[in-house]
Amino acid sequence: MNKENDNNLMEKIVSLSKRRGFVFQGSEIYGGLSGTYSAGPYGVELKKNIKDLWWKKFVQSREDIVGIDGPILLHPKLWEVSGHTTGFNDSMVDCKECKKRFRADHLVEDATGKDLEGNNEEMTRILQEEKIKCPNCKKSNWTEARNFNMMFKTEMANIEGDLYLRPETAGAIFIEFKNIVDSMHLKIPFGVAQTGKAFRNEIVAGNFIFRLREFEQMEIEYFIDPDAKWESLFEKWLELQEEFAMEIGAKKEDLRRYEHPKAKLSHYSKKTVDVEYKFPFGGFKELFGLAHRGDFDLSSHSKASNEKLECYDQDTNKKYTPHVLEPTFGLERCLLVSLISAYCEEEVNGETRVVMRFPKKLAPVKVAILPLSKKEDLSKQTRELFDSLKEEFACEYDETQSIGKRYRRQDEIGTPYCVTFDFESLEDKSVTVRDRDTMKQERIKISELTNYLKKNLG
Ligand code: GAP
Repeated sequence: MNKENDNNLMEKIVSLSKRRGFVFQGSEIYGGLSGTYSAGPYGVELKKNIKDLWWKKFVQSREDIVGIDGPILLHPKLWEVSGHTTGFNDSMVDCKECKKRFRADHLVEDATGKDLEGNNEEMTRILQEEKIKCPNCKKSNWTEARNFNMMFKTEMANIEGDLYLRPETAGAIFIEFKNIVDSMHLKIPFGVAQTGKAFRNEIVAGNFIFRLREFEQMEIEYFIDPDAKWESLFEKWLELQEEFAMEIGAKKEDLRRYEHPKAKLSHYSKKTVDVEYKFPFGGFKELFGLAHRGDFDLSSHSKASNEKLECYDQDTNKKYTPHVLEPTFGLERCLLVSLISAYCEEEVNGETRVVMRFPKKLAPVKVAILPLSKKEDLSKQTRELFDSLKEEFACEYDETQSIGKRYRRQDEIGTPYCVTFDFESLEDKSVTVRDRDTMKQERIKISELTNYLKKNLG
């Protein structure tokens, strides 16, 4: 299926996501709450499998990376010191005619190709002089572009002033640095990983689950010797990020790198590169990011807290504030990439078959166990088979509707194997195993089924 030429692809994915329990609009029965969503019963499994894959690749299988799970509510000083309180802004502009609000930089970039992020004066001039039209009412009558802080404010009973829901997971890693170094034997270079919710008051949320107000991040702070050659490590991290994108289904040709222009980098950053994916809406957009943040975070928190945030390097007998490389991943963008990459339509016997070709390790259900009919002795023995397999694999038992309809249902949720127990199974102690991708059917002895599935699911 040619995804580039399928303008309706996103509509089909949004519709399948709702119909088959992957993704629902948040608070839908009350008209929806924009920028929020619920993962449905299969979506939550898919998300969990993506997160587990990430954790296994970047934490459990590496000796140089440990994990933490910090709180969503963090001391307000953290956001002041990190610059978020004053600088975590997007430029917003309102249409005076229809009262809709937009990201000024997005309007200007779409109309002129110029990236003027942060330059409100110039964006206001262009919007007004070039009479850029409102995407909603098509008129051109704009307010001035102005900064809008994207952090969500909240309160705590015994704290004076504003508290914020964290806008990124990374912050807790820096303020727990001393605890981590003191409690673990870590040799530089080493990393600290964290996954969890982040909240951003996006001016315009949208493109399904691409830009949300509540989402999950998977981030690593990778601490390095300031005198070490960082370029090769930076390149290695980019390769690992691209590798992970392909493990969740992205094709190499749908990925590219975008290096942020030097002039736009913060003074402390040596380099920032986004790994972009070719989404069906508007082409290449950020999937992951990688930034060299120098020692900005640790030095700033050290100064503000009077705590030494350093590490001791046994090899060189040096004590120093390390520099940091920050590979960051958005979980919902991963979920979206895996839905887009998996979606396939094909003609089978004059009918359209929709099949989600998820990488097998990500599939929400690995094996569907289906009795050919609801007749009592078949159901009973099929259930026994289901009970014996469900400890080992994510299984689903289904006896509703015809076998053909059940196969199609499992195709739509991307189940790699359907196991059918029929009348012959009572005699020959074998079942029919159907492969999602080839639709080939094989007769397998029940006694060999677990090994067969283990081998094929990998
Ligand atoms: N600590 C660095 C950081 O937060 P970022 O580029 O702002 O960097 C990291 O965010 C990743 O989080 C992005 O690459 C993207 O995958 C995801 N992300 C950011 N904003 C998002 C949003 N509003 N909705 C969904 N995912 C988002």
